[in-house]
Amino acid sequence: MTRLQISKASVAASSGAHSDLIELLVACHARIRSFAQLAVAIAGAPSAVSEAEIIDGCERCTRYFAEALPLHVADEEQSVMPRLLANAPEVASALQTMQAEHHEHEPLLRALLTQLRAVASAPHDLVARAALAAVAVPLQTAFEQHLRGEEDTVFRAIRDRLTVAQRAEIVEELRARRQL
Ligand SMILES: [Fe+2]
Ligand SMILES: [Fe+2]
Repeated sequence: MTRLQISKASVAASSGAHSDLIELLVACHARIRSFAQLAVAIAGAPSAVSEAEIIDGCERCTRYFAEALPLHVADEEQSVMPRLLANAPEVASALQTMQAEHHEHEPLLRALLTQLRAVASAPHDLVARAALAAVAVPLQTAFEQHLRGEEDTVFRAIRDRLTVAQRAEIVEELRARRQL
């Protein structure tokens, strides 16, 4: 395994074999953490890592953050949030924080995609790599805080306050969003 490969566990978590909503959401969080870590690893990749591998890492990161992450945000804001607001008003402020953080992440994500493009076009340019690190490191910190907040409050409320039928409906919506 090279330095820029994400862990096999997180790839397995993306295989679509899960049916339980919490497992699906936890698997999404594992992927967010893996790709945030991959962006940091690309920025700090030693010279022994080939240009092709850096470019491949940039492309995988770009695909994930541009295409897959917005689906997870939609899952939370469009499928989870309305049902929890109805069933569990005690987590309304946590949900508002969640949504506000999604908005705060947007400019950081745009900057990340810009810097990934720059590194992909000059993989061993140290200035481009430093610019990537300047975005990827704080974004990883912001994601970690965001994900933990959701796992501690929102995921717990999904488990405790939504019915089995509501959770099944949300799973169907998640699958429809990805056309699974
Ligand atoms: Fe989120
Ligand atoms: Fe999340």
